[in-house]
Amino acid sequence: MLRNTRTSYGTVAIVLHWTIALLFFAQIALGFLTQAVADRPRLQFDLYQWHKSFGFLILALALVRLAWSLSSIRPLPLPGVPRWETTAARTVHRLILALTIAVPMAGWMIASTSPLMIPSFVFDLVVVPDLPFTRSDAIEAFWSRTHALLAYGSGLLALAHAGAAIHHHLLRKDTTLARMFGAHTVR
Ligand code: HEM
Ligand code: HEM
Repeated sequence: MLRNTRTSYGTVAIVLHWTIALLFFAQIALGFLTQAVADRPRLQFDLYQWHKSFGFLILALALVRLAWSLSSIRPLPLPGVPRWETTAARTVHRLILALTIAVPMAGWMIASTSPLMIPSFVFDLVVVPDLPFTRSDAIEAFWSRTHALLAYGSGLLALAHAGAAIHHHLLRKDTTLARMFGAHTVR
């Protein structure tokens, strides 16, 4: 089933969830690596281009996901899960979804405000144009800090989110995690 139902996630939501989850964690590691190889400019340049390519890919997928989830119904909460927990989980989901858009946008702002004007090649196929903003070292540094803060912050939030899902699976032994792999809620 492509679409969500009241008892299950559909294939589109599942494929988007796991693809973005994998790319997102890998992208944080890659971003960290770009800073760790500052003494090797050639390698750093290549890593930046990969980082920008995957960043734009995540942005595109996150926008598709946003449109998809706005036009979908959500599976109902599992029976027995307290109301406050459902509300907390939903709030975190909305926040992470917003961050998968805000983090690459902040990255795009670094490229767009940098006086170096290095083009963003995406997988060596297309050049994504910069956004029309004033360039200066100070503005670039602001976006650089914002991007790093949002990226590491969202990484921690996503880890807490993953921890909660694993807690449901191992300790509560319910179908929260299994539903993200296609299982139906048994009511
Ligand atoms: C190993 C890591 C992860 C696990 C085990 C995991 C597990 C889950 C599970 C079980 C749900 C369904 C929760 C429910 O029905 O209440 C869910 C939903 C969700 N997860 Fe994750 N997740 C992981 C990583 C991520 C990452 C890295 C992101 C974003 C960067 C993310 C974003 C979301 C969002 C936005 C939802 C809401 C449903 C949707 O729009 O697809 N997750 N996750
Ligand atoms: C979901 C997508 C993205 C994630 C999770 C992410 C994550 C990160 C992380 C963790 C860092 C290292 C920060 C530090 O330690 O100072 C970084 C650096 C960087 N990212 Fe991203 N990034 C994403 C998308 C993008 C995009 C789309 C661009 C540009 C088009 C971009 C451009 C950069 C640049 C230029 C740096 C180096 C910043 C500096 O010089 O201080 N990122 N990113």
